[in-house]
Amino acid sequence: MVSSEVAPLAKTGGLADVVASLPPALRAIGDDVAVVIPRYGFIDLKGLRRVYDHLPVFLGPARYDTSIFLSQGEDPPYLVDCPALFGRQGLYGENGADYPDNHIRFAVLARAALAVARYLFKTDIFHCHDWQSGLVPAYLGTTFVGDPTFLGARTLFTIHNLGYQGLFRSQALGEAGLDPSVYRLEGVEFFGKVSYIKGGIVFADALNTVSPTYAREIQTPEFGFGLDGALRARAGALTGILNGADYSVWDPETDPLIPARYSARDLAGKRVCKQQLLAEFGFAAHAIKRPLAGVVSRLTRQKGMDLIAAIADDLVSHNLYLVALGRGEPEEENRFREIAAKHPDRIAVRLGFDDALAHRIQAGADLFLMPSRYEPGGLSQIYSLKYGTIPVVRATGGLNDTIDDGTGFKFAGDSGPALLAAILEAARAFSQAEFWRSLIVRGMGKDFSWKRSAGAYSALYRQLLATRAERLNPFVPARF
Ligand code: ADP
Ligand code: GLC
Repeated sequence: MVSSEVAPLAKTGGLADVVASLPPALRAIGDDVAVVIPRYGFIDLKGLRRVYDHLPVFLGPARYDTSIFLSQGEDPPYLVDCPALFGRQGLYGENGADYPDNHIRFAVLARAALAVARYLFKTDIFHCHDWQSGLVPAYLGTTFVGDPTFLGARTLFTIHNLGYQGLFRSQALGEAGLDPSVYRLEGVEFFGKVSYIKGGIVFADALNTVSPTYAREIQTPEFGFGLDGALRARAGALTGILNGADYSVWDPETDPLIPARYSARDLAGKRVCKQQLLAEFGFAAHAIKRPLAGVVSRLTRQKGMDLIAAIADDLVSHNLYLVALGRGEPEEENRFREIAAKHPDRIAVRLGFDDALAHRIQAGADLFLMPSRYEPGGLSQIYSLKYGTIPVVRATGGLNDTIDDGTGFKFAGDSGPALLAAILEAARAFSQAEFWRSLIVRGMGKDFSWKRSAGAYSALYRQLLATRAERLNPFVPARF
């Protein structure tokens, strides 16, 4: 697997969780998996094992010297070290601005991953995640097409989020050492730019997204971000495989990061978690009687956080409480600062990335809000089910596929009032103790463990390998 994130080493969102959890689930059913990610500046080299030294990556005339390290732990990821490109404090940028050489950084990641496959880990399937690894299928389909090392290698490209495409000015083509032939509509060209995500969409043998609903949605102009045509052209190779949750990390029965543990059989600990969360955010103790809504989110337009800000006054007038944790776009962060400043006794906000607090909010809140405009998969709502925290979600993508009337509240449309109506319905349910408890218990009983999704990925790998056998063996007649 080639990725830009893996938890806990490097994480901005759910991609990191997926790339951390899917490989062990695949290993458990007999597949051998290695993960390749960059060695960012915040990943300490101390204690890492250098497994390949002086690995030059040539992109056109430029040369980038890399080394490959193995981090510690069981089945650790391969880390591509190239201090000049990755030795920074951000993954993709700093202070709200993308790094100007991201096209080089993720071209080098792709080429270094191919080198890992050449020298360190024999690879049948390159499973690439999001635009940051989109060039792997593109290089394999062009520059390395006759290379015996990769003969018969197959590629799967997983779209975790179509909203991030890796778009660069056309000069990137040469700077990334791409074959000029790929700069065409049926290649990586996108409105005069180079699109790394198209490298995956066009060149990969198979494509998937992280929920069945999102796989359908991205083939429409409304959700396609201009790529719906390219995706429709590959509809036969595109499937949706729902994300799973890693219950060794996200389970209130065992979670060491929450103040008290609990289960569907005994929910007493959840009350303790709520009490402590209220105290941590400076709310009055009597707030325990009222619904407490939680938010843990990247703060981007995708997540629909502006809808929450738009109804903040209504939440307060209905005597509801809100705690939010998020990091992201300055405009979105300001919106949250403002509503917290206006209603300090009802709304509290922490701006930043804090995994332990994310767990405490999941455990201590009654409702979990995800009014996303689009949501490819969504993990947080799956976690909140497990924590007995009732999700209030927009009926889109993976939110639509994981939440139903018996486990949460869904709304349609893109407006504050629609969100408010769903929250108020949830608040009414909260006041009916027995009914509320039945919702909690049903959600906690849902099983979204990785086992099922890993089985679906493994089946897809096998399907890809079967078509390889047909291609390589002239005695197997081609299927039409
Ligand atoms: P996305 O990948 O679009 O951000 P997901 O729901 O798939 O959405 O995954 C979000 C993951 O990121 C969850 O593990 C959530 O706890 C975590 N997360 C998001 N924002 C923060 C934050 N500010 N602090 C800590 N964890 C966060
Ligand atoms: C992306 C999506 C999210 C998904 C995650 C992991 O960040 O926004 O919906 O759960 O990837 O697949």
